[in-house]
Amino acid sequence: MKWKTTITELIGCKYPILSGAFAKLDNTKLVTAISKTGGCGVLTGSYFKREEKFRNALLEIKNNTNNAFAVNFSPFTPIGFQKDLSEMFLQKLKIAEEERVKTIITAGPRCEDFGKKIKDYGMNWIHKVTTMKHAIFGEKLGPDALILTGLEGGGLKNPKQNTFLINMVNAERLLKTPIIASGGISSGKGMLMALIAGAQAVHLCTAFLATKESPIADNWKQNIIDADCFDPELIKKICHFESDQPKASPFSLAAGPINKIISVEELVNDIIIEAESLLKNLGFQDNLIDFTKK
Ligand SMILES: Cc1cc2nc3c(=O)[nH]c(=O)nc-3n(C[C@H](O)[C@H](O)[C@H](O)COP(=O)(O)O)c2cc1C
Repeated sequence: MKWKTTITELIGCKYPILSGAFAKLDNTKLVTAISKTGGCGVLTGSYFKREEKFRNALLEIKNNTNNAFAVNFSPFTPIGFQKDLSEMFLQKLKIAEEERVKTIITAGPRCEDFGKKIKDYGMNWIHKVTTMKHAIFGEKLGPDALILTGLEGGGLKNPKQNTFLINMVNAERLLKTPIIASGGISSGKGMLMALIAGAQAVHLCTAFLATKESPIADNWKQNIIDADCFDPELIKKICHFESDQPKASPFSLAAGPINKIISVEELVNDIIIEAESLLKNLGFQDNLIDFTKK
């Protein structure tokens, strides 16, 4: 079956699946594997301190696949707040433009000037947020799409986050920008739920972290496999109820359905096969699965 959404059209990928960025990790090989299978691999742009290494990572991906991929820039300090940081990010953005990267993802506060520069270069700008309040504010800055991460997900946690489902139910009502659903998604069922609820793609981080091509240590992968998403202690840790300050979480409730370390190709195929067979069970018979907003 052929998949079509506003995001597959925007990015130019076969499936409406994007990967997360992984702070402090060089995910070049993983990005290549994801893009090769038809998803959109997302390179952790902030990982590369030296411009030459960043360019080499882009060249490595481009040498191994002609398929679409994206770069994420996620500073923990606002872009434009520290002069040095702002210049470093702008320099890397220029390299991405020179290497014809089509899509840039930002995450973090005060990205407006950076986002404007992305658009001036003629690239797609996707901005990642964790709360509806930030999504409403972010929309006004003019990105092409927003990634909205639910409470279930990992990464930088905001105590004001809401669940994936509540986000999706309300996004339709409160936002006009195409939404990429994120947080706790690791299966075809999760992807289909997000698309039916109005998302134009899904953004998976933990599921890709547990694959063969992922750069994390084997014991970390094993911890994802062993994680029990019904364990109250784990839920408390991930949902970050214990403080009102933002905090990073290396775990996500996406770990629930992940029960073995498989290749990226197997993961993406499993997700697509599950989603397509659910659609067939619902009586869907077309060869084109079109979720584009009409
Ligand atoms: C170990 C880890 C590192 C992450 N690093 C980044 C990062 O550098 N930049 C970013 O925007 N998000 C980062 N995230 C957040 C993810 O991109 C994503 O928003 C979230 O994990 C999605 O939830 P999932 O893990 O349930 O798929 C990270 C998440 C994890 C688990």
